[in-house]
Amino acid sequence: MNNSEVKERIEKLKSEINKYRYSYHVLDKSIISDEALDSLKKELFDLESQHPEFLTTDSPTQRIGGKPLEKFQKVKHDEPMLSLNDAFSEKDMEDWLKRAENYLGRKLRDNSFYGELKIDGLAIELVYENGIFIQGSTRGDGLIGEDVTQNLKTIEAIPLKLSPNSKIPIPKHLVVRGEVFLTLKEFDRINKEQEKLGEKVYANPRNVAAGTIRQLNPKIVASRKLDSFAYEIVGDMSRQTHEDKHAVLRKYGFKTNKHNKRLRSLKEVFEFRNYWEKHRDKIDYEIDGTVIILNDNKLFEDLGVVGKTPRGAIAYKFSPKEATGQVLDIKVQVGRTGALTPVAELTPTQVGGITIRRATLHNFDEIKRLELKIGDTVVVSRAGDVIPKITSILKNMRTGKEKNFRMPSACPVDKSEVVQDGVIYRCSNKNCGARLRENL
Ligand code: IVH
Repeated sequence: MNNSEVKERIEKLKSEINKYRYSYHVLDKSIISDEALDSLKKELFDLESQHPEFLTTDSPTQRIGGKPLEKFQKVKHDEPMLSLNDAFSEKDMEDWLKRAENYLGRKLRDNSFYGELKIDGLAIELVYENGIFIQGSTRGDGLIGEDVTQNLKTIEAIPLKLSPNSKIPIPKHLVVRGEVFLTLKEFDRINKEQEKLGEKVYANPRNVAAGTIRQLNPKIVASRKLDSFAYEIVGDMSRQTHEDKHAVLRKYGFKTNKHNKRLRSLKEVFEFRNYWEKHRDKIDYEIDGTVIILNDNKLFEDLGVVGKTPRGAIAYKFSPKEATGQVLDIKVQVGRTGALTPVAELTPTQVGGITIRRATLHNFDEIKRLELKIGDTVVVSRAGDVIPKITSILKNMRTGKEKNFRMPSACPVDKSEVVQDGVIYRCSNKNCGARLRENL
């Protein structure tokens, strides 16, 4: 091959590899095997090594990561990276809309919202000059973040070069924001590997994603397959709606979340949020709620910012699966088999969208293990639909007035003797009232 043939081959390889990337990450369609794709990448890598004069910063080979960094440079964001206020109930959402209407001085006739999944990852900003990715940064304090361009380049869901499109011209300067996260599958893979190496196991995908993005060694970053969704084009007022912006992002080659959608009323907003609260386990990444944005960009701008949060958007979160409460008493229940189960009576606490007043303690060993006393402040959790349980005790909250629980020696129902059977205590009377009642 002569030089111009090499150059042409390199260009073809780059655009072909990028086409597969787009198809896989943006369109969710795999049209080539991993092996075949790797072999195209290998050829590109070899050609670029032999002809470094044709190597460009937007080449897919540049995702591999270069030399380790000493530390990150600081980056000033063109516009501050804001955060969102939280809403936890339908009333909070109604209040939010009322506040917006009061601020505008009129009713919003067309209640059009854009609903997004709120990804539990970390926010990033991506800058493109003439269609080429030149700088990526973390949120930092909102005004100044850290330059993590090298690390972000390892993420395949982020285009290194915007897809040319005849209908949407590529601006000279483009600023896109989004979220970086780790899939649960990749999180498990990393933790299994950590375990094998005898290294520490990570608590949750968000921590790993945050730690990885701030890794000084890009080789480590490249070995952990981070993922990303884009959700905003900064300062672009040429689109009428937020939904339009997402469509443009996709055309440029960004991965957007396919579950995001336009919602026509607060009722649809509630349904969207409730649907995802119920089905969050069906997707391969963690979400902690929804983001609801006024779909009309002009309205959103007019509403402006209060403090560090825009008035035109809000995070409508899922009900926390954990909350704290106080143990008022520990009662003993007798079940169908005569087994005595201790049950903690709690101050009413909201967990997973319902008010709970009781938590099971399974058996007496559980009380011993937790070192639980009556009067303790505890963490209660409710995963899925299971019965709420006490997961830990906040011992620093103790006042000294807490009381120890004493296991009864007689059945609380018929006063018969209680006998021990492993970790289980049972009423010795086969005809105990509680047994008969439960059996009915
Ligand atoms: S829109 C003004 N959309 O949630 C900020 N944010 O406090 C507008 N987040 O740290 C952000 N998923 O990084 C938006 N689909 C989504 C999001 C999302 C996660 C994060 C964001 C920010 C926090 C909002």
